[in-house]
Amino acid sequence: MQFTVAIDGPAAAGKGTISRAVAERFGFAHLDTGLLYRAVGMKGGDPVAAARALSEADLARPDLRSLEAGEAASTVAVLPEVRAALLEFQRAFARREGGAVLDGRDIGTVICPGAEVKLFVTASPEIRAERRWREAGAGEYADVLAQVRARDARDMGRADAPLRPAEDAIPLDTSALSIEDAIAAAARLVAARLPTR
Ligand code: CDP
Repeated sequence: MQFTVAIDGPAAAGKGTISRAVAERFGFAHLDTGLLYRAVGMKGGDPVAAARALSEADLARPDLRSLEAGEAASTVAVLPEVRAALLEFQRAFARREGGAVLDGRDIGTVICPGAEVKLFVTASPEIRAERRWREAGAGEYADVLAQVRARDARDMGRADAPLRPAEDAIPLDTSALSIEDAIAAAARLVAARLPTR
């Protein structure tokens, strides 16, 4: 069976946690596409060359989850050649046998416009900044909020594959939801679209 779940949304909206949980629940493979951009951003040198030569070892770097890597990712993610170099790998992953969940910014719009399920996960900037600030356990909340707003603006404002919901994406606002409730809501939406055997 081929079955693609596309989960998009801004930083710290909860897409990563929801995607992992949904993949586990339904036995699907999961690809955090942000990691690809993070790995390209952290490799240094020419980002287009880095994207074309991306390897398993690049994706295994321990520092890819850092704030620095997130910033580097959103900087290289504006380059159309970088995005083009990463496209086929993501599409092949999406169509693998047994089902796949991909989370990112442009999965429902560009990478997998035919995905069986598309979710657009959001939360207010203040709540997302608070989540990031608590995760980091250091620094000033105001600085994290400014960073979240700047990254939103860069991701939504770029010309190539900007962050926006696909027309047929289902919105899921996690601002007032516990993580368990957000996962349950996403799992219900996926279950409703699974083919009946
Ligand atoms: O976890 P968080 O949402 O902070 O970051 P991420 O999903 O790892 O993405 C980091 C950056 O990579 C984003 O701000 C985007 O600029 C870029 N990205 C993208 O352009 N397209 C994707 N499919 C995934 C990430």
